[in-house]
Amino acid sequence: MRSGKKRARSEPGSTKQPRSKYSDNPPDFASLASLYPSFKPFVFFSGSRARIDWTDYNATRELTRVLLLHDHGVNWWIPDGQLCPTVPNRSNYIHWINDLLSSGIIQSLGGDGSKVKGFDIGTGANCIYPLLGASLFGWSFVGSDFTVVALEWAEKNVQSNPHFSDLIEIRDSKVPPQCSSVPEVENTEREKTIQEEAEISATVKSDYHDNKSFIEPAVLLGVVKENETFDFCMSNPPFFETFEEAGLNPKTSCGGTPEEMVCNGGEQAFVSRIIKDSAVLRQRFRWYTSMLGKKANLKLLISKLWEVGVTIVKTTEFVQGQTSRWGLAWSFMPIARKIIAPPVVKKSVLSFMLECIKRQYSAVDVLQSVEEFFKSYCCI
Ligand SMILES: C[S@@+](CC[C@H](N)C(=O)[O-])C[C@H]1O[C@@H](n2cnc3c(N)ncnc32)[C@H](O)[C@@H]1O
Repeated sequence: MRSGKKRARSEPGSTKQPRSKYSDNPPDFASLASLYPSFKPFVFFSGSRARIDWTDYNATRELTRVLLLHDHGVNWWIPDGQLCPTVPNRSNYIHWINDLLSSGIIQSLGGDGSKVKGFDIGTGANCIYPLLGASLFGWSFVGSDFTVVALEWAEKNVQSNPHFSDLIEIRDSKVPPQCSSVPEVENTEREKTIQEEAEISATVKSDYHDNKSFIEPAVLLGVVKENETFDFCMSNPPFFETFEEAGLNPKTSCGGTPEEMVCNGGEQAFVSRIIKDSAVLRQRFRWYTSMLGKKANLKLLISKLWEVGVTIVKTTEFVQGQTSRWGLAWSFMPIARKIIAPPVVKKSVLSFMLECIKRQYSAVDVLQSVEEFFKSYCCI
């Protein structure tokens, strides 16, 4: 796992996602070991407590495999060295998006709202967000990536789950949308087990770092098709500017190749590119979101968002165990301004709350809302 900022203490406003099944209920290794013999060799006891060695990549990968299978009915695998997601951490982000979608803070795209469609920028070989979103909420997804291994393995992970595979499309962000395609997996390869195929893929080297003239692939513009609309996009971007900076956390081993961990300018540049694209695509997405590894990057990114004319910005902190991540969300949709009336309105005393008033709304806007409120109660 990437070395996340460690939480020294509990900060005000920090959020566990209460709807995530892991928020107060960490995985029970002893019970998983008794149910899944392949996981058992990785579990040991210190005192009465069952543990795994977090510095062993095979142990963390097997934990992710059994958690996805046991808790979500998802079949999953990745080749050696590819970034291994922690299921509780990734679940937090998915639940936050679900909260945003159901909050009613912004107007909807139309439609009946029952079919939610998301776009995962940089889905990785692990394809974790589309797999979780489809299995937890029945969302459909486009998951984009640009490395051969990620595209091939994301597709394999989707096809290993025929019960919802038609909900997820894997898209190459280097290929213009009109000819988007995913490399075909040959029939002979299909006969191998998913683990055998992983060993072969692990030996395939991407040309990313050998190619000096490498051009950053598109993020959203040029990947999103004409006339496509989405309820949200999400991203766990490459956080770091150099692989050295990524400096793998010595206390955990969750793999991660340079393509997964590093991009020019790190996460700030990557999220800035999403912001730039969103300023063009605007209401084609209801919510644009990204995860961040460094809280310090929030300030500048938020100021960029107000500059491009977003209507709302939301942030959150994802806390899982010792690690914190941050969520940033924005929208260009009109705010669904809600006036929350007190439950019982007495004739002589009216009190009310105006929600979601942005700094730039003038006193006149506020007074007009007040007027609407009184009109709605036939007071004027
Ligand atoms: C940190 S990994 C995240 C993988 C997975 N979503 C997760 O949370 O474990 C970042 C991913 O973004 C991909 N990526 C980087 N630039 C991209 C771009 N412009 N378009 C699509 N994917 C990109 C990388 O190849 C990598 O798979």
